[in-house]
Amino acid sequence: MPATRPKVYSSIYPYIDAANFKNAHKGKVVLVTGAGRGIGQQIALHFALAGAGTIILLDLAVANLTETIKLCEEHGSQPLPFACNVSRQKQVDSVFDEIFSKVRDIDILVNVAGVCNAKPILLETYATIWRDIEVNLGGVIQTTMKVLPRMKARGSGCIINMASRAGTITLPYLASYGVSKAGVIKFTESVQKDLDTDGLGDKIQIYALHPGAVQTDLSRRSMDPEVAAAYPKFVANRPKWVKNFNTSVDLAAAVCVALATGRVKNSMRGRYLDCEHDLEAFTTDEAEKEILSGNLHTLEVNFLGGLPNDGGSSSNLFTFKE
Ligand SMILES: NC(=O)c1ccc[n+]([C@@H]2O[C@H](COP(=O)([O-])OP(=O)(O)OC[C@H]3O[C@@H](n4cnc5c(N)ncnc54)[C@H](O)[C@@H]3O)[C@@H](O)[C@H]2O)c1
Repeated sequence: MPATRPKVYSSIYPYIDAANFKNAHKGKVVLVTGAGRGIGQQIALHFALAGAGTIILLDLAVANLTETIKLCEEHGSQPLPFACNVSRQKQVDSVFDEIFSKVRDIDILVNVAGVCNAKPILLETYATIWRDIEVNLGGVIQTTMKVLPRMKARGSGCIINMASRAGTITLPYLASYGVSKAGVIKFTESVQKDLDTDGLGDKIQIYALHPGAVQTDLSRRSMDPEVAAAYPKFVANRPKWVKNFNTSVDLAAAVCVALATGRVKNSMRGRYLDCEHDLEAFTTDEAEKEILSGNLHTLEVNFLGGLPNDGGSSSNLFTFKE
């Protein structure tokens, strides 16, 4: 029986309340992708409430960012909006060139831009599957590659990637989304492993976060007519399913602000966190021991008979020694 069992919250709870984080990120430069609405907009707002100096806002069009710009300004942060499709390498290259001509560095990167194309695999095409992967995973990879060298040179930084529970369980009609989010979780683990191996783990932390089940444009979007025609039951059940999306839209935002202070970096860096789990429970030595020894909050495989996943007869192959 595990010693630590975090409480579960569907909305902001006292430990992560914005009032506790006033000036926690004073003067910092924060970049949020997909900041135009939903979870990304709340994340920008909560970093403004935490005193961020400049908040770089990316979305498909600057017009999408009007409301977020206003929210940042109202709370004393300087918004820097950019139109950028995070799945397009040329756009990412030129937007980041412009960003780095305006700000010295990015202290905190939050990758939120995402799409969800719920479709039975037989109605998908390679192009539609790959588009989701390019946005949800490709976008995370591209922005991370842009900020990491400067974080390394400076010796500090934090990256938070919006993952999804769909990357840890297998659901029907969500192959492209599930693959992209599992990729985000694995990429997060892999980047942190590199940083740890290079002795930078204490300086730069990267996390994958499930923002809960939130009613947003992404979760409420209408069904593709082709799917609706072929799967009428799926369509009929959808409103009932979406009704169960009970997490408040700002919970992940408050968790991001708290995570970026580094308070759980010893136990959780490189790992996957569900934003509904009480963050305070992750700050104890006991929790840290349990997480590290059990390799919790990662994508893991379990074998019949409890056999270890150590490569069996090739177990020495993967030991890294310089
Ligand atoms: N809503 C949920 O229940 C839920 C659950 C799990 C994970 N998530 C993840 O949280 C993130 C935010 O979701 P949301 O519900 O707020 O969605 P949303 O659709 O409300 O917002 C997504 C934002 O990303 C932007 N965007 C989309 N594609 C982009 C691209 N290629 N480049 C730049 N910007 C792009 C959109 O314009 C929009 O502003 C997504 O990564 C999503 O997968 C959401």
